[in-house]
Amino acid sequence: MNQTIAALPKAELHCHIEGAASPALVRKLAHRNGVALPESMFVDEHRFAWTDFHSFLAAYDRACDAMRRAEDYRDLIYDYLGRCAREGAIYVELFSSPEHAEDIGLGFPAQLEALVAGIDAAERDFGITGRLIAICLRHRGPERALWTARTMLATRHPYVVGFGMAGNELQHTPADFAPAFRLVADAGYPCTAHAGEVAGAESVRAAIDALPLSRIGHGVRASEDPRLLETIARRGIVLEVCPGSNIALGVYPDLAHHPLRRLIDAGCKVTLNSDDPPYFDTSIGREYAMAVESFGLGEDDLLHITQTAIDAAFADTETRHRLTERVAQYSRERERPPASARSAET
Ligand code: ADE
Ligand code: ZN
Repeated sequence: MNQTIAALPKAELHCHIEGAASPALVRKLAHRNGVALPESMFVDEHRFAWTDFHSFLAAYDRACDAMRRAEDYRDLIYDYLGRCAREGAIYVELFSSPEHAEDIGLGFPAQLEALVAGIDAAERDFGITGRLIAICLRHRGPERALWTARTMLATRHPYVVGFGMAGNELQHTPADFAPAFRLVADAGYPCTAHAGEVAGAESVRAAIDALPLSRIGHGVRASEDPRLLETIARRGIVLEVCPGSNIALGVYPDLAHHPLRRLIDAGCKVTLNSDDPPYFDTSIGREYAMAVESFGLGEDDLLHITQTAIDAAFADTETRHRLTERVAQYSRERERPPASARSAET
């Protein structure tokens, strides 16, 4: 990453907390918790073994199995936010799954308390702001989603700023999940859902028709339908685009075929995100760097993308204003470097 891109303020809206754990951290947690993991789930020190979307979801679930205790979540989010801050990120919204917390017998309140402690420690140590989105998992069905929505509402916390849906987009229909989304939307929470990643434009249309979404996770395959793109642009629905993830999962053969540019040119609001960074050999810094190297975006475009993410963040107004001011300050200093930097140059 060149110096300018490294320093540029970044914001990420789409990253799965369990998916942010590196193989090394997963091994460490498994050891600490006495969980035996199959060696076949790792390619090497740095990579998980998977070959396609289904085996990726299975690998992801196996890695989740290593996380058992509240402190695992605290360590994980603190570690991830630190890595993001070192790449210039000022804000990260992370998906956390109450269902995973339930699976391991920890429960959402304890998981949440640990995540909040990690977020506070990261803000103190690295100056980065983190927030959470509670997600349901589509392949587990609408009943579980309703349980997730109710659990989130029963355990409210100011850092849990929205509701979302991840998981296998090829199972069930968005309309099946309308009761869960309606429940949280009626309680005032904004929503996002994965759509248009492994399924086509019709999947995005079904999601925005059936669910109260202000953002879409991925949404890239909306690019297959110009009228749908118009609708997304007109309604100001924000796309959480994850180019590195899309290439790794084979949604597109390479970045030259990725529609990021076309989405921007169609007037859609886009943000850049890492999704599950160690699985896809990426990071928020890499996504910004790729946007320059592979899509020809410039510094102004990237600042605009950061501001789009801040405007679309589910965080409260005061937090968004504070983040906006950080971006504005960076822009001012870029135009007129502070006196100390100017005298160092001469
Ligand atoms: N869960 C974690 N990463 C995901 C992705 N890229 N798509 C759907 N569900 C996910
Ligand atoms: Zn995702």
